[in-house]
Amino acid sequence: MPKQLFLKTYGCQMNVYDSARIADVLALQGYSLCDSPQTADLVVLNTCHIREKAAEKVYSELGRLHALQRERRADGGDLRIAVAGCVAQAEGEEMRRRAPFVDAVVGPQAYHRIGEMIAAVERGTPSVDTEFPAESKFDVLPQVRASGLSSFLTIQEGCDKFCTFCVVPYTRGAEYSRPVADVLAEATTLAAQGARELTLLGQNVNAYHGELPKGGTASLGDLLRRLADIPGIARLRYTTSHPRDVDGDLAAAHRDVAEVMPYVHLPVQSGADRVLAAMNRRHTADDYRRAVAMLRHARGDLAISGDFIVGFPGETDAEFQDTLRLVRDVGYADAFAFKFSPRPGTPAADMAQVAEEVASARLEELLAELTAQRIAFDRRAVGTTVPVLFERPGRRPGQIGGRTPHLQAVHVDAPESHIGSITEVEIIGLGGNSLVGRIVAAGAREAAA
Ligand code: SAH
Ligand code: SF4
Ligand code: F3S
Repeated sequence: MPKQLFLKTYGCQMNVYDSARIADVLALQGYSLCDSPQTADLVVLNTCHIREKAAEKVYSELGRLHALQRERRADGGDLRIAVAGCVAQAEGEEMRRRAPFVDAVVGPQAYHRIGEMIAAVERGTPSVDTEFPAESKFDVLPQVRASGLSSFLTIQEGCDKFCTFCVVPYTRGAEYSRPVADVLAEATTLAAQGARELTLLGQNVNAYHGELPKGGTASLGDLLRRLADIPGIARLRYTTSHPRDVDGDLAAAHRDVAEVMPYVHLPVQSGADRVLAAMNRRHTADDYRRAVAMLRHARGDLAISGDFIVGFPGETDAEFQDTLRLVRDVGYADAFAFKFSPRPGTPAADMAQVAEEVASARLEELLAELTAQRIAFDRRAVGTTVPVLFERPGRRPGQIGGRTPHLQAVHVDAPESHIGSITEVEIIGLGGNSLVGRIVAAGAREAAA
């Protein structure tokens, strides 16, 4: 009987990618995935440190796991507990002081070593590894396994931008781009395993500058063109982009490459220049407007999603109004908005904080605007015909689900034989969190993208 591994993932899409790779490494150690801690020999929590709430969730989960571990031990069994990801990186040794029942702590740049760590744990030696090793984990990780029709692929990691609110430069380390040949090889493997859509991941994905085999570097625009040539790859997405790194080359890729989907996640955080400067974003609200305009000029139907922080230290009502104005100017397909959360060790944590009630009221107002925009965006799709990549069975029998180029979830009544194909769908209405469609003409018609 193989040993059972329960893996729980918090945070961003990169953590989802990392969790899959952690599972690949531990498979070599004889672990196969199970779906509950109750049946697990080893639990790995892949954690997120971005906001206080995210980090707290980890400690409450650890409390529950500790109780389970004690029960097991009382019965003569055991449960091993490992913590990976950004909380592991931020806390390091401190985590084992606070939660000594944790057997292994491993940071985002060291998880290629998790196999050896767990082997040591099995021999009774706990360990902590939050190094930023000289070797890149990507050079030693086992070959990827596609997660389905739509797969994540990390091409860039870390961040050198040091926004004053953000932990990422500390937890993920310096910006690093994987060489072009590596990315193409991984994409080819994923395509051969059936992936039709790739989402390229990076904390600053459009700062990508991967080494080319013959010297020099490739930009993200360049990389997208090369990836589009891989047989089987029909759709390309990338996230998260930084407004400063939007360039003509990326816009041109949206214009020229049919596989590049017309959807860009482009966080702005605030619409007020004073706040943007205090955040060390190194762009103004108008720089952002220009970046959006450049992308939309290249591809008229391009949709934008974003991230916002309200209640950043010192944010005035007028500055919050600037954010609302920017939101109305840009028009978002979707967005995330967060209350500022002071993170230990970041410069903004020591600045004068906005009152909790004020931040909450602003969040509510912003969310109302963003939700109205999302609904309006979805409503505009009704009556149009769009190519949908069908990825999975729907919520009820006879139904299948997929996504539009604009990342909207769509459900249609159609046989499962459509799964894996890109089919023209007429959008006929809005469901709860998805669009309702019907397949145009009889039979599946393969669309270009
Ligand atoms: N690399 C991306 C986003 C990284 S974190 C970028 O540069 O935009 C994802 C989002 O979490 C951020 O866009 C920001 O909106 C939010 N976030 C990060 N730190 C935060 C904090 N301390 N408080 C509240 N929200 C935060
Ligand atoms: Fe964090 Fe800013 Fe880097 Fe994004 S650009 S990861 S918000 S420091
Ligand atoms: Fe969270 Fe780390 Fe991602 S802090 S958002 S898991 S980079």
